[in-house]
Amino acid sequence: MEPKKPFHITEQPGIKYYCACGRSAGLPYCDGAHKGSDFHPYRVEILEEKHVAICSCGKSAKLPFCDGAHKALL
Ligand code: FES
Repeated sequence: MEPKKPFHITEQPGIKYYCACGRSAGLPYCDGAHKGSDFHPYRVEILEEKHVAICSCGKSAKLPFCDGAHKALL
């Protein structure tokens, strides 16, 4: 089985809200689907245009960013 891979995005400056519950229809961004649960989105301020890798497996120790932990998942 293929391990999950991160979302690779070139972000523009601004405040980003990344999904923490996994229910968003617009992953990796929050769409409000967490409402009614104990989850809250990750709020990240991007200061300048840059590439980010956002975790999709939920095992990263640096959420919402990928730390390579998905490579151990099979
Ligand atoms: S997708 Fe890479 S650590 Fe989760």
